[in-house]
Amino acid sequence: MLDIGFVAEPVGFDALVLPVHPGDRQAASDAPAVELLPGQFPVPDDLRAEATALLPAVEHSGAAGVAHVSVAPSREPVRLVLVGVGDGDEAGWRAAGAALARSGATERTVAVALPPDAGPAVVRGLAEGLWLASYRFRLPGSDDAAPSGGRVMLAVAGTEAYVDALRTARVTAEMTCFARDLTNMPSSVKSPAWFADQVVTAADRLIVAHQPGGGPDGESAGGPDGVAGGLTVTVREPAELAAAGFGGILAVGGGSASPPRLVELDWHPEDARTHVVLVGKGITFDTGGLSIKPRDAMKLMRKDMGGAAAVIAAALGAAALRLPVRVTALAPLAENMVSGSAFRPGDVIRHYGGRTSESTNSDAEGRLVLADALAYAVDRLAPDVLIDLATLTGANAVALGARTGALYSENHELAESVLGAGAAAGEHAWRMPLPSDYVEYLASEIADLHSSPAKGAGSVIAALYLREFTGELRDRWLHVDMSAPSWTSKDDAELVKGATGWGVRTLLRWLADR
Ligand code: BES
Ligand code: MN
Ligand code: ZN
Repeated sequence: MLDIGFVAEPVGFDALVLPVHPGDRQAASDAPAVELLPGQFPVPDDLRAEATALLPAVEHSGAAGVAHVSVAPSREPVRLVLVGVGDGDEAGWRAAGAALARSGATERTVAVALPPDAGPAVVRGLAEGLWLASYRFRLPGSDDAAPSGGRVMLAVAGTEAYVDALRTARVTAEMTCFARDLTNMPSSVKSPAWFADQVVTAADRLIVAHQPGGGPDGESAGGPDGVAGGLTVTVREPAELAAAGFGGILAVGGGSASPPRLVELDWHPEDARTHVVLVGKGITFDTGGLSIKPRDAMKLMRKDMGGAAAVIAAALGAAALRLPVRVTALAPLAENMVSGSAFRPGDVIRHYGGRTSESTNSDAEGRLVLADALAYAVDRLAPDVLIDLATLTGANAVALGARTGALYSENHELAESVLGAGAAAGEHAWRMPLPSDYVEYLASEIADLHSSPAKGAGSVIAALYLREFTGELRDRWLHVDMSAPSWTSKDDAELVKGATGWGVRTLLRWLADR
């Protein structure tokens, strides 16, 4: 990870980053006056003059995410980077950070002149943009050299106002990148057992890092009330799943040579007042099963565990930040394959708790594993809030396009708070209806529920089906169909082509507000 830290007066840097914004429109003219922002450390007059002259010459708009690099070999520093921050809010600085990461300047040492009025949100946005946009996926054991990763010096007069913001940004970016790594990983590697091992390893690493003397933050975070005391992982294998009645997970995972798992990761701090359960769909590959997908629809289905990755990463993030809220992440993990032991269209599946589903389309597998996990959460964990994230339907993208999750909840306050956290974090969702008129479509002649009625409104009907498993938590439940924003086909601001880690930023921000 790029090294980002604070300095009072930067020395020995190869690039100076000067933030630019579209200043006030002048009364006499329509042309926006693009302005350099003042710095918290004295930027030499000659550099400031040069930058001021460059702005109109390069037609810099000051818009967030526009970066102009000016190279002059005979000048110190050799590079001046004029980066637009737009309105100067967190989103503007996040876009600026992403543009800076893509400018090439951060391969060396850069100094950023933060303006005197910069609040913590400026540092958080800038750092998250830098870290998220400089993410690269690497296969385990690949010999691609990791990028040298330069150093970013944030020039500030005092650090007190910013230290927490930088730590939060770091954990948020690290956990988002962890979710991206899991989601980008090819399914030949990413079996349910492998995924479960990654969770155990990540949790162990966090525990060790927070023991006294165990890691960089050891001294401050250790002790019996630190992470070590409150973080546990339980992995259930097929025998245990069968004994406890997790029929959805077992049916969906039954066709694969790599058997299913249920991971339960629990962050349980002593001072917790609220308990949140996060459930994430963890299909490590979705062929569609016997209702097999056409080839184009199948080729990206390694991403079908993006929900599980996001909820696990968010719970780990809550632990790393020692948020005073109990968070249990449940990841039902299964590979939906075609084989002699695959479940069949028309099978009736008995879920955790005993309710049954008639499944006429084995490609509607996500809701079957989620039904088990939701029923288990309600029955055994009885949380205050129940949230699930799932790459559930192609209909998400049909309704809302590539970048917006479909959010469902009967609880207005809960819906608004999660939408707000997402908007602040840079992840977008749109609230969708749960119309009772459609509940009749879920009727089956041979089971309690029909899991895959083909009546249109695919994302809505999937949400209505899940709602049937939320029991007394029905009005404290929220679901996001994140099929579309879990992946990006191109580099886009802080997103890097491939898995986006969608949901980690939203959940961490929402959890921090509990
Ligand atoms: N994993 C898919 C949904 C999906 C599609 C995610 C595209 C990401 C991108 C899910 O399991 C699925 O196949 N859903 C079906 C539901 C249908 C059979 C009721 C779909 O969307 O077609
Ligand atoms: Mn499917
Ligand atoms: Zn799926």
